[in-house]
Order: sequence, then C-alpha cells, then structure tokens
Amino acid sequence: MKQNVPVAKGQVYEIAIESLGNSGEGVGRYEGFTVFVPFALPGELISARITLVKKNYAVGTLVDILEPSPHRIEPVCPVYGTCGGCTLQHVTYEEQLRLKTQKVRDIMERIGKTDPDLVQPALGPKQPWHYRNKMQIPVGWGVDSATKLKGETGKTQAKVANELKPVLGFYAMGSHDIVPCTNCAIQNDGNNQIATVCERLIRETGLIPYNEVTGEGVIRHIIGRIGENGWMVIIVSTAKTLPQADYWISEIRKNLPQVTSIVLNHNPRKTNVIMGRDCTLLWGDETISDTIDDLKFRLSPHSFFQVNPEQTLVLYKKALEFANLTGEETVIDAYCGTGTISLFLAKQAKHVIGIEIVEPAIVDAKANAKRNGITNVEFIAADAAKEMPNLVKRGVKADVVVFDPIRAGCKEEVLKAAATMKPKHMVYVSCNPASMARDICVLRELGYEVQTVQPVDMFPMTAHVEAVALITRVED
Ligand SMILES: C[S@@+](CC[C@H](N)C(=O)[O-])C[C@H]1O[C@@H](n2cnc3c(N)ncnc32)[C@H](O)[C@@H]1O
Repeated sequence: MKQNVPVAKGQVYEIAIESLGNSGEGVGRYEGFTVFVPFALPGELISARITLVKKNYAVGTLVDILEPSPHRIEPVCPVYGTCGGCTLQHVTYEEQLRLKTQKVRDIMERIGKTDPDLVQPALGPKQPWHYRNKMQIPVGWGVDSATKLKGETGKTQAKVANELKPVLGFYAMGSHDIVPCTNCAIQNDGNNQIATVCERLIRETGLIPYNEVTGEGVIRHIIGRIGENGWMVIIVSTAKTLPQADYWISEIRKNLPQVTSIVLNHNPRKTNVIMGRDCTLLWGDETISDTIDDLKFRLSPHSFFQVNPEQTLVLYKKALEFANLTGEETVIDAYCGTGTISLFLAKQAKHVIGIEIVEPAIVDAKANAKRNGITNVEFIAADAAKEMPNLVKRGVKADVVVFDPIRAGCKEEVLKAAATMKPKHMVYVSCNPASMARDICVLRELGYEVQTVQPVDMFPMTAHVEAVALITRVED
C-alpha cells in the first residue's frame, strides 16, 4: 500500500521518539511515518532535520532535544558522534541494559512469534569500559588531533590536505572514512598502547596506508589481541614482507614489553575482509593464551575468541546451565571456534563433538583440549551445513545441540539435521537475536519450542546484544 510521505528533505520536524533501532538510533513517527534519528532516545521529544526520504521511512539528524530523557548523560569519548563504534554512550549504563532487554523482547515477539516475557533482563558486567581484548583498527590518512587544532582556525579539512598523516582510527558512522583515535574507551588499555606505538611506527617507516578505492598502499590494519600472559600484534599488509621489519620488532619490544607475538598478515586482495589467509611470524610465539574460568586457551591470529572476557564467562555459564548436563550426554557444539564452549561443556558431559569451518581454529581447539587434559571431546574441521547431515548419516545421536553461529545465523540444513537427532535440548547462543529468532521459527516447525531467552551484554556502549536461548523438544 502506498504510504503518504509527510516529511521533506532539508525540513525540520518535531518528533516523539518511541524506541531504539538496530544501530542504537532513536525511532519515532511523524504523522505515522517512521523517522530514524541517530543519538535520540526513547521517551524524548526532539527536532530533526530530514536528510533522507525513502518510500517507507526517513532519516534525520538531531537538531534539538526539546524534552530530554532522564537517562541521557554526557558521553565521555572525544570522538563520540563521529566514530561509528559506541552509539549508546549518551545513555546511562543501567538504561542501556533495559533498552537491550526491550530490543530482544521486541525481536522475539515480532520475528520469533514468541511471548516476549520469556526474555529475561539483560546481564551486564561490573565494568562496562575498556573491555575489548581484540582491536582491529584500520590505517588511513587523516588529521590527528594536534593538526586539527590548527585546521580549526578557518581552514577546512580538505584545505589542510598537505598536513594529512597516516592515522589509526575507527570507521565513521555509515562510511569507511577513518576517525583518528588511538585511545578508545571500550578497548583494553593494552590495545590502545599497541595502536599508539604502531601509528608512530607507520609514520616513521614511511609505510603508505592502503587505499580501499584504488587498492594502492601497503599497510591496511593493525590488530591487537590481549591475552592473559601476553599480547599479540598483527600487522595486516599488502606486502609479503614488512619493510623495515627489524625496526618494527625492536620498537614494539622496547615500548610494549607485554607483547609476546608479532605477526605479519598478508592481504593483497581488493576486499574489505580484514585478514588475508597467510601469516608470517615476525617475532615471538605463534599464539597467545587466555583463560576462561579454569580452562586455558591458545589463540592463533585467525582464531575467533569472545572479545569481552568478563561477560564470556557469564554467557558460557548460562549456556552450561541451559544444557542441563548430568555427565551422560553426547553434545554437539556446531560452531565451536577454538573449542571454548565445547571444553566448558565437556566437564559435565559424556562426549562433546565440536564443528568449526576455520581449520587453524580446530588445530587450536585440539591443542586446547590437550592442554586442559580433556579427552572426551572430538573436533571436526568442516562446514556445519555439511557435517551435521553427515553425523546424522553416521547415526550419531545428540542429547544436546549447541549453536553459536556468526551473525547470519544457522543454515537450515544445520537446524534440520539437529532436529533429526532429536536432542532433548538445544542451546542457541547468538550475537544477532534477529537471526536467532528466525531460526527459532524454523525449529518450531521441527518440533522444538523456546523456553527462555537470556540477553547478555557483551558489548556495552554499542547497540549490539548477545542472547542465549534454551529450546526444548515438545513433540516425539
Ligand atoms: C560466534 S563464533 C563462536 C565460536 C565459539 N563458540 C566461541 O564462543 O568462541 C562462530 C564460529 O563459527 C564459525 N563458522 C562460521 N561459519 C561456519 C560454518 N559454516 N560451519 C562451521 N563453523 C562456522 C566461525 O569461524 C566462528 O569460529
């Protein structure tokens, strides 16, 4: 049905904000027409200038807050508003948790066709700042803060082009323009130290930042990973060998003595996938290690590992509680990464099978089982969409199946194969509740129903929310 569009580009309108959108933006209506306004909050009356008009919605920029939310606070970060990372810094943390709970409830009702009251209040950490143990920071050209002060005396950024320097920073909202920042409020301080030192080294060694449009340039990203006993620095480059590698190594070692591994990742492809396939160890150990509860994990450059250590434990404990193990069960962990959840569950199960598509992660998973003395696990490097039906053919019967897929959720083959095994419980861990809700509808058709959903805030200050759902068999 054609909707009347009551707003026009460039005009300012008063809008009552009703809810929070997917990226943390305020969502309101003007004469019934949906308008998205970044940085506006539910409960606020604001005025916004319309910047984009589509058939069914419009987008506006916040002009004035006429009636502010009582939960609005002053953001701490100097690049808040330009950097696309933390879109909720202007809300008290308590309210962030409430908004995230509401978001999962809305998704479960709208997409999952489920009673929203099954969703429990989101669990937050004691410390919502400086939690990220992994930083992937792009390199580009920019004006750093010292230069910017000069530029602000009338000259526009374009006019100070000859003052542009290689910078590290985060992508601006909705674009790949880099907002210079080496002191991020949600990064572990170790990552900020890595960013600061590497930015200086890029300038000193004259390495040219990669240009996504032309494909020219040498240095693309710096990745920092903070482990319990050491830090890893990964330099992502279009070059197979790092120019002036000895200088990089000696400076990193001198300035960042906690670094135990320096790796060059070769990514020559014109793609926005951050890492290429090949890694060369420049100095130190090939892996770093980290601990979750009493388990030790080794992490190689490509391995997935949850980014918020405090909340990872909260999430895994919830998954374990939902699995309701007695020690007699066969469990499948269908997207196992380095085997973290598998090993966590193995302590209370008879046998665990982990499946993971990234081969080096499976190498790590096997090593992790060995170093923790856990023998009742088996890890398979494969696509879950192929391996789950294989396991069915082999006659494997699971009592519990755990899914922890990427944002896109599970392929239908995975869900169908899981249901064919008739497990009593399924535990679905999701970084994208919308795809989880969609998959829950598929599982419903296969005889399963969601019992409870626990949101866990793994990403404070951002609009992302993780959730874990208990899904049980209702039909024989
Ligand atoms: C969200 S991570 C979860 C990893 C692990 N459970 C954890 O908590 O550390 C999702 C994992 O699924 C893997 N993956 C992606 N597509 C896959 C597929 N088709 N089959 C199996 N694993 C896949 C990714 O490589 C990644 O390790």
